[in-house]
Amino acid sequence: MSIPEHIQAFRIDQRDGHCADWQSMRTDQLSSGDVCIKVHYSSVNYKDALAATGSGKILRQFPLNGGIDVVGEVVASESDQFDVGEPVLATGSGLSETRDGGYSEYLNLHSDWTIPLPDSLSMLDAMRIGTAGFTAALSLYRMEANGQTPEQGPIVVTGASGGVGSLAVNILSQAGYEVHAISGKTQFFNWLRQLGAVSCSNRHDLYLGDRPLESTIWAGAIDTVGGKMLEGLTRVISPWGNIASCGLAGGAELHTTVMPFIIRGISLLGINSSQCPTELRKQLWQRLAGPWKPPQLAQIAVTQLRRDELPEYCEKMLAGQIHGRATIQIKG
Ligand SMILES: NC(=O)c1ccc[n+]([C@@H]2O[C@H](COP(=O)([O-])OP(=O)(O)OC[C@H]3O[C@@H](n4cnc5c(N)ncnc54)[C@H](OP(=O)(O)O)[C@@H]3O)[C@@H](O)[C@H]2O)c1
Repeated sequence: MSIPEHIQAFRIDQRDGHCADWQSMRTDQLSSGDVCIKVHYSSVNYKDALAATGSGKILRQFPLNGGIDVVGEVVASESDQFDVGEPVLATGSGLSETRDGGYSEYLNLHSDWTIPLPDSLSMLDAMRIGTAGFTAALSLYRMEANGQTPEQGPIVVTGASGGVGSLAVNILSQAGYEVHAISGKTQFFNWLRQLGAVSCSNRHDLYLGDRPLESTIWAGAIDTVGGKMLEGLTRVISPWGNIASCGLAGGAELHTTVMPFIIRGISLLGINSSQCPTELRKQLWQRLAGPWKPPQLAQIAVTQLRRDELPEYCEKMLAGQIHGRATIQIKG
């Protein structure tokens, strides 16, 4: 397949202040890699919104194309692991941080961290899941590796109406857990119940106490919020429970005591989806295409964006005005 000399890409630069927009660029300016793909879809994560708007330091060099998620078909390969025509995906792995990301008609990837698209997953479903679903799956994987079971009791998910949160609700429920959701958006409580939450609490009314140990409420947590929310969770997780800390939508600081750790033996698990080892990535994508496939993916990925709608959507995401996931079709 011939690769065009010029392509359209969502390029983020800092030359004259922050600027980010779709523009034409030469294909030979793309970051290098041994697998070239024609991009079909990407998605929008919180990190993409921070990068696109310049609100957070995501890119470590400029200019780069945005988009931490990508799925497409191989059009040229110098790797014996991938053949032309094969569908592949990539999430994190330096995309839109140290190398060009998925908001681009063509993209070079490194075979070391490129993932074959599992047979039972369509390209669109892979991006409906994207980094958000992968992060939820990595959180559950790490919790179970540390002994969490459905029999221990309910798992609470914070920031539940967001991408990671809503997929965590759906995946946990699919995996047999009783799920409790915490969200600031009461208008989405019914939607969260349809995704599998048995109870929903309003984060604006939530008070988890101020003593190092309060009465226990949940057996574990997937926390996308951080700050005061995470601090509160450490007080109320029951003995031997796990908290997967994966986000900071509510703050990056954490003030707590050692009491929950040394008296209740709870564990705080750090989640880094971007640099997850490739073998574990492959395993988790197989689970996401199989036993952990979120059954309500179409209800979660409620937004399908055109390319020109990307900047406005990113602004809305940071203003907390979205719910669920957004995919973006790149292939014309
Ligand atoms: N560690 C990793 O590898 C990894 C991977 C992906 C994402 N993340 C992080 O996970 C977080 C969620 O990402 P996402 O893509 O799911 O974003 P998202 O779709 O924007 O969801 C974030 C959710 O957090 C809640 N929230 C927003 N502002 C808040 C505030 N000030 N206080 C408390 N809650 C607030 C909102 O949920 P409610 O209104 O329902 O409460 C919002 O929907 C982000 O911090 C992101 O950087 C980390």
